[in-house]
Amino acid sequence: MQLELPDATATAAFAERVFGLLPKDTAGWTVLLEGELGAGKSTFARAMITAMGHTGPVPSPSYTLVEPYQLSGRSVYHVDLYRVTSEDELHYLGWSELDDGLRIVEWPDRVPALSEHADIRISLRYAGAGRVADIGGLSPRGRQLIAKLDPIPTSRQD
Ligand SMILES: Nc1ncnc2c1ncn2[C@@H]1O[C@H](COP(=O)(O)OP(=O)(O)OP(=O)(O)O)[C@@H](O)[C@H]1O
Ligand SMILES: [Mg+2]
Repeated sequence: MQLELPDATATAAFAERVFGLLPKDTAGWTVLLEGELGAGKSTFARAMITAMGHTGPVPSPSYTLVEPYQLSGRSVYHVDLYRVTSEDELHYLGWSELDDGLRIVEWPDRVPALSEHADIRISLRYAGAGRVADIGGLSPRGRQLIAKLDPIPTSRQD
């Protein structure tokens, strides 16, 4: 499924819609955010973390790799794999211990095997001054969630 995101506000609103469709218990859910530099991955992640109740800044995890949050009793992990070059490195960042929460992952393409353990893939790309998102479900529950996103008609300008 494809969505047109004409500006950053649209990217944030889309993140809020995806969050709204997640179950109350998001433990073990993984959302992958693909897209080149500046495609809007952090804009999406920030809006989702804020929608979950976080107030204040959402620092980039590009150096820490993982930024953890506790939001109304739920764990959320904002992960950035830009500097990760192999699946082994996931072990060092404690990937498997993050399964008690929602994992929001930027640059998942650094570790292609992650798609097998994720629920939703959102690929953001440039389209004129805005962006287009390709959204796909990677697990049965992820596909069910995507099916609930109402398609918004797109008028392509690229
Ligand atoms: N749908 C959109 N249309 C136009 N601009 C957007 C859109 N979404 C986000 N932006 C803008 O694009 C810029 C880059 O966004 P952001 O930092 O979220 O990208 P990123 O994918 O995380 O980049 P990086 O890979 O460098 O971390 C920001 O100025 C943001 O406001
Ligand atoms: Mg970013």
